[in-house]
Amino acid sequence: MYDELLPSLRCPTCAGMLDLRDRRCDVQGEIVSGALHCECGAVYPIRDGIADFLGPPRPPTIAQLTNELPATAWAYERLWRPFALTLLSGESFPYQRELTLVTDWVDAARGGLMIDVACSNGLYARALARAMPPSTGHVVGIDHALPMLREARQRARAVGVQVSYLRASAQALPFASSAARGVAIGGSLNEIGDLAACLREVRRVLVDNGRFVAMTLLAAQGVVGRAVQMALAPGGIVFWSREELLAQFRTAGLRLERSEQYGIVIFTQCSRGRGD
Ligand SMILES: C[S@@+](CC[C@H](N)C(=O)[O-])C[C@H]1O[C@@H](n2cnc3c(N)ncnc32)[C@H](O)[C@@H]1O
Ligand SMILES: [Zn+2]
Repeated sequence: MYDELLPSLRCPTCAGMLDLRDRRCDVQGEIVSGALHCECGAVYPIRDGIADFLGPPRPPTIAQLTNELPATAWAYERLWRPFALTLLSGESFPYQRELTLVTDWVDAARGGLMIDVACSNGLYARALARAMPPSTGHVVGIDHALPMLREARQRARAVGVQVSYLRASAQALPFASSAARGVAIGGSLNEIGDLAACLREVRRVLVDNGRFVAMTLLAAQGVVGRAVQMALAPGGIVFWSREELLAQFRTAGLRLERSEQYGIVIFTQCSRGRGD
């Protein structure tokens, strides 16, 4: 975690300001250990560069349990992620195409705080950090699975980009209201749990002209696709129709600005509109 993030952090329990104590930094200036104290009594430790807002893991679904496994974190960007969109969209969809779309739509070039929610290995977080002109902002990735965050932190450090990583819930983001110019969510809404609560948090942390960009998987139309998606349902992975997903955004007060669909993959860009 880096100093740049400190002014935007808030206690996820009471929304109070946090006071960093016992801070230790490494040679690159990353805060590698310490503790964030809130007046409400909550203390959030920072270990190995990752601030933990959640305490002991309590994964409620099979999908979330799987993400707690170090093997999943190791395999995610090595074995699945580079091919995922090509397989799911049915057309050639290399990283460059996806990441250009996401960083353009969220307008990372204007800087400010950008949040990669449920970041896994931090693919979007690294892309956002690279797309941001130097010293114009900061990128933070949050996820509730520590093995994913450890892998994400190593990957960011290996390529020399500064990204803060926090263990936190998408339904209780540890940021001040209106702190973020951009929020990106890559493929995670399908397994996020309480979607409405997550979207409300996204809207809360966005500034008035902030942008929210999501890549989400829609309900399949074909027999095989539907069977696969039905098999994933007990694991906590949910697929909506386009209309259902957009209705959820609307209800949360997120106004759809544009969308593009490729197979079952939909990219959406929302602004912080008025709630219904
Ligand atoms: C499909 S992966 C994310 C992929 C990643 N965004 C990317 O583009 O490569 C889903 C991630 O969401 C995280 N996750 C699921 N529900 C969450 C929640 N409620 N709060 C925080 N993280 C969550 C999981 O731990 C997992 O790492
Ligand atoms: Zn507090």
